[in-house]
Amino acid sequence: MGCGSMGVCHGEAYQKLENVQITAVVDIDREKGQALAGRLGCSWAPNLAALRFDKIDFVDICLPTHLHFAAISQACRFTKNILCEKPLVIKEEEISGISLLIRQYDLRLMTAHVLRFWNCYDKIRDMVKNQTLGEVSSIGCTRRQKRPVWSASNWLYQSSLSGGLVYDLMIHDIDYVVWLLGVPKAVVGDIVHDNDQVPLHAKAQLRYENCIVDLFASWGMPESFDFYATMEVIGGKGMVFCDSAGAFTWTDHEGNRKVSLEETDPYAEELRYFIDCCEQNRYPDKSDISSVLQSLKTTRAIDQAAATGRIIVL
Ligand SMILES: NC(=O)c1ccc[n+]([C@@H]2O[C@H](COP(=O)([O-])OP(=O)(O)OC[C@H]3O[C@@H](n4cnc5c(N)ncnc54)[C@H](O)[C@@H]3O)[C@@H](O)[C@H]2O)c1
Repeated sequence: MGCGSMGVCHGEAYQKLENVQITAVVDIDREKGQALAGRLGCSWAPNLAALRFDKIDFVDICLPTHLHFAAISQACRFTKNILCEKPLVIKEEEISGISLLIRQYDLRLMTAHVLRFWNCYDKIRDMVKNQTLGEVSSIGCTRRQKRPVWSASNWLYQSSLSGGLVYDLMIHDIDYVVWLLGVPKAVVGDIVHDNDQVPLHAKAQLRYENCIVDLFASWGMPESFDFYATMEVIGGKGMVFCDSAGAFTWTDHEGNRKVSLEETDPYAEELRYFIDCCEQNRYPDKSDISSVLQSLKTTRAIDQAAATGRIIVL
């Protein structure tokens, strides 16, 4: 559902998997829907009900964020297997609504938090969990891009529809850090806007007992700037750095060296994982709903901290 930037991205990733055949795509925009249907060799419909299927193996939701909850509510009448792009939902009441739907329909609902399937982020989580890094005392993440002007009807710029810069972009790193370390004890944040009140840059600090996490997310980079993200984790035994250009280095008292990782498509890995869970009737632990709800809680706190200038204790 949704044939915009992420619908196309997922569609291309499904084509790399052997055990998947897309039956149909849904988009309110006929032109976009038919274009993607043509590429994937499937049918198009303006909504799920118009497909007239009694049963569907699974639904993948790549709609604008404000439509996620309604789409999940509709999809669960056809299937218990639902994958939904991040952020899962943005309203407080929708979070409790999601938990109700999961219980009522026994849903296997996974949020597509792609960093959990990104080889360097996954590797760093292993290094933290198996103590290769020692006790982690500092994490720094940056995620920067030019203005996201491509969204349908510019929904991304409207905080009521997308949640804004923190919910839409910074959430990638918030979710990863919460997945790694749990909910912080307190957060602070700050956002600067342009004259039209479009958020440009957001900074946040997540405070843990013995670790400080600094996050920076930007929609305000120059037009010529390509998307770029970095992460640095410092522990008692060394430091790792990775970036979206493929760098991965490990530094300890003996020096600095490159670590080579197998090249993978993180979106295909994420979809492969979900489909394997569906086929093997397993719960998608790697993106389990309780940790996703924890990262949403932290995201909400950072957004509040930025809006009020106060420290939010969690
Ligand atoms: N994981 C990632 O790396 C990543 C990156 C970008 C966006 N996203 C998320 O993916 C989701 C989609 O973002 P996008 O960039 O693809 O948006 P988009 O605007 O490019 O695409 C949205 C599509 O939904 C369609 N649509 C709108 N209303 C509809 C309706 N009522 N019924 C059917 N179709 C409808 C639009 O016509 C459009 O084709 C968002 O939640 C966003 O936060 C995730």
